[in-house]
Amino acid sequence: MRVLLLGGGGREHALAWKLAQSPLLTALFAAPGNPGIEAHAQCRAIDPTKPDAVVDLVRAERIDLLVVGPEAPLVAGVADAVRALGVPVFGPQAAAARIEGSKAFAKEIMEAAGVPTARAQVFRDVEAAASAAAKGGPVVVKADGLAAGKGVVVADSGAEAAEAVRALGRLPAGERLLLEERLSGPELSVMALCDGERAVLLPPSQDHKRLLDGDQGPNTGGMGAYAPARLLSDDALEAVRREVMLPTLRELARRGTPFRGALYAGLMLTPQGPRVLEFNARLGDPETQVLMMQTADDLLPLLLAAANGALVDRPLTGRLGASVGIVLAAPGYPEAPRTGQPIAGLGGPFPEGTLVFHAGTRRVDGQVVTSGGRVLTVCARAESVAAARAEALEAAARVQFEGRQYRQDIAARAP
Ligand code: AMP
Ligand code: GLY
Repeated sequence: MRVLLLGGGGREHALAWKLAQSPLLTALFAAPGNPGIEAHAQCRAIDPTKPDAVVDLVRAERIDLLVVGPEAPLVAGVADAVRALGVPVFGPQAAAARIEGSKAFAKEIMEAAGVPTARAQVFRDVEAAASAAAKGGPVVVKADGLAAGKGVVVADSGAEAAEAVRALGRLPAGERLLLEERLSGPELSVMALCDGERAVLLPPSQDHKRLLDGDQGPNTGGMGAYAPARLLSDDALEAVRREVMLPTLRELARRGTPFRGALYAGLMLTPQGPRVLEFNARLGDPETQVLMMQTADDLLPLLLAAANGALVDRPLTGRLGASVGIVLAAPGYPEAPRTGQPIAGLGGPFPEGTLVFHAGTRRVDGQVVTSGGRVLTVCARAESVAAARAEALEAAARVQFEGRQYRQDIAARAP
């Protein structure tokens, strides 16, 4: 089977590493890929958000399955264009990917499907939103569209919320704004492989979104993750599948836009039960890096079955133990990452069970240098979260570039 993987981040390196182990794979291509992915796939320098470019590559390389990593190609309609060729795609059509691309749309789906979430009001008018916000107490203000982690403000007072409304209202993503009830509790990422109708859960995981230890500093794309995050019992997870994933899939199918790909529910575990804070239409990054190390099953037939609407309703075979992933970020990340620094120590030696996934890296004259905000995810699998954490920290210390930033407390509070 000939597979094309779109994307070039840590998530895609982990997917490439896992897909490369499949006995069903005959050729793996990645676009654009990265220097880490090159070890597993033939990388092609095309823009993965351009449907025509992806269609040309799918035809030229006689691709049997397209796997889409990031959200941008989904929102741009790449899955639609490739499906129109009759080629199976793991990744939803643009109309279903709106569940990530528009928070107002996600609320509409959740309301129609009866999925537990925070109450919210949607506004088109900034002044109307600001005066509604000023009246209330603690509230969460969200821009409707994709805003690269900068579209949400958790406000402590009405005045702060009104100020956030005006700031988010200036963003392109802020054409519509949401005022949302503020919930509290630990957060959990639950992802499912979906075939339009069925949902197979991956192990639950936890991301660490703030830049600095102790959940301080600005929001980022994610500074580290671990799995499994045992914050819910198996029964409670099954309830999330039944009461969050399946009704959402039914509602999208009822609208004529079945969802085939990875559905990611960002949950807050409130005293009243799990509530959905957001949906993503793709796998998480850096969650995928640790999840790929946790899954014993062959990934390729699962992605193909999801793409073809033919998943078998059974849980995945988990691996014993736990995985922890620590993101090494460039200096200046997230506001203004400085890049171009040579990276030392990528060759290890690392203990067995340790993997370094590339994200923002580039090869210049044979030397791997930094090229983006999140540069690498250093991952380790061991018999417990604590042991995996210690190994990941040790490996992270050995991979060096000037000004690198990483958190020391990833998974430190894992139950
Ligand atoms: P989102 O992009 O919607 O997941 O929001 C980003 C972060 O804002 C989440 O990970 C939460 O930490 C926080 N957040 C979002 N919605 C709420 C809410 N209704 N109540 C409290 N915190 C929230
Ligand atoms: N790690 C959070 C995300 O992928 O959205």
